[in-house]
Amino acid sequence: AFQVKVRSSGALYDVAADESVFEVLDRNGVFVAVSCESGVCGTCQTGLIEGIPDHRDVFLTDKEKAQGKWFMPCCSRSKSPILELDL
Ligand code: FES
Repeated sequence: AFQVKVRSSGALYDVAADESVFEVLDRNGVFVAVSCESGVCGTCQTGLIEGIPDHRDVFLTDKEKAQGKWFMPCCSRSKSPILELDL
């Protein structure tokens, strides 16, 4: 498990192993647009402020993944205890 942090509010939310970052944000009223929910379409692309992402999508290029500026909350996870998103 890890926590996702919303930059605009500073709020931290726990992300359990069996739920996506998108599901946690959505449940807490933080809007993220999604479509495929499987890392393919790119709709959910979100800016990454801080943390080490565990990219699980096939939308971002390897170069973009290495840059660490973008994150796909419908499917990707975190390797660091906290992942801060530009929301
Ligand atoms: Fe399609 Fe996230 S909703 S990539």
